[in-house]
Amino acid sequence: MSTLPQSGRGTVELSIAPRAASDDDEQPFADSSGNGGGVGPTGRAWRHIPEPSLLNGHGPAKILAVCNQKGGVGKTTSTINLGAALTEFGRRVLLVDFDPQGALSVGLGIPAHQLDRTIYNVLIERSVGIHDVVIRTCVEDMDLLPSNIDLSAAEVQLVTEVGREHTLVRTLRPIIDEYDYILVDCQPSLGLLTVNALTAADGVLIPLECEFFSLRGVALLIDTIEKVKDRLNPKLDITGILATMFDPRTLHSREVMARVVEAFGETVFDTVINRTVRFPETTVAGEPITTWAPRSAGAKAYRQLAREVIAR
Ligand SMILES: Nc1ncnc2c1ncn2[C@@H]1O[C@H](COP(=O)(O)OP(=O)(O)O)[C@@H](O)[C@H]1O
Ligand SMILES: [Mg+2]
Repeated sequence: MSTLPQSGRGTVELSIAPRAASDDDEQPFADSSGNGGGVGPTGRAWRHIPEPSLLNGHGPAKILAVCNQKGGVGKTTSTINLGAALTEFGRRVLLVDFDPQGALSVGLGIPAHQLDRTIYNVLIERSVGIHDVVIRTCVEDMDLLPSNIDLSAAEVQLVTEVGREHTLVRTLRPIIDEYDYILVDCQPSLGLLTVNALTAADGVLIPLECEFFSLRGVALLIDTIEKVKDRLNPKLDITGILATMFDPRTLHSREVMARVVEAFGETVFDTVINRTVRFPETTVAGEPITTWAPRSAGAKAYRQLAREVIAR
């Protein structure tokens, strides 16, 4: 995706869980073949998505910032599950927890609050290198740069740094050739940490909840993206807008979906993530839905998203 939607257009009003005995959902996931044809949940026909190519080697990574200053829209869930789905297509993935809440780390079963070294130390202390902090996850080929509450201090400490907006991209440089995708899970704000993520990124993935007020604030987000593109990172583009928490049974969800497509057109992924209790369950389980319930509609949807992301 190369064009940013005009900012004005975004202002439209509007204990461990037991593993399920069977993870097959009753409703089959609509046309996950990605071969086009048929009307998808966005109300448009599915576009053709080519089969992901096989890779001979890895890197340099494409950096994607998963960003929306609204909380609870599915940023962290999408980062974990898109990352895990990308590994199924042979991609090596690094997830960056860039939210002091540490939900990404916790969602992968990592007790981030107990870690002595996190992304905070790499950002702030010259003596700590990124390889000292990256850890493996339960998913093969998916690593994590964890964070915890320490990161909240970085926002303040970085303000006086020279080149403060480029701190994350400098931090990631030594590791970029080892991965195909680096996904940065942003905090729900447009502050300095998020600007750092946008400055490091090749693309932005915007999860958007299918709720009435979801489009509020998107204009401000797009405005921020355009400013970063203009002043700090000319290569930045919106990779796509991902509709999340969609309930196909309600008229409300379908109406919001129609407004989102009207406002953002082709930028909206054909893949839509339905609202299902399976996602909160995976957080408790500390693993992605692709391994927790591999045949569920949610797992299939994130695999479909991975194909779209690879194709863009
Ligand atoms: N598609 C979905 N359906 C139902 N619940 C979801 C879905 N995606 C995420 N959730 C849940 O909603 C909450 C917020 O999601 P999260 O990914 O943490 O959002 P964010 O990172 O944007 O704050 C979490 O409890 C998560 O388990
Ligand atoms: Mg989050």
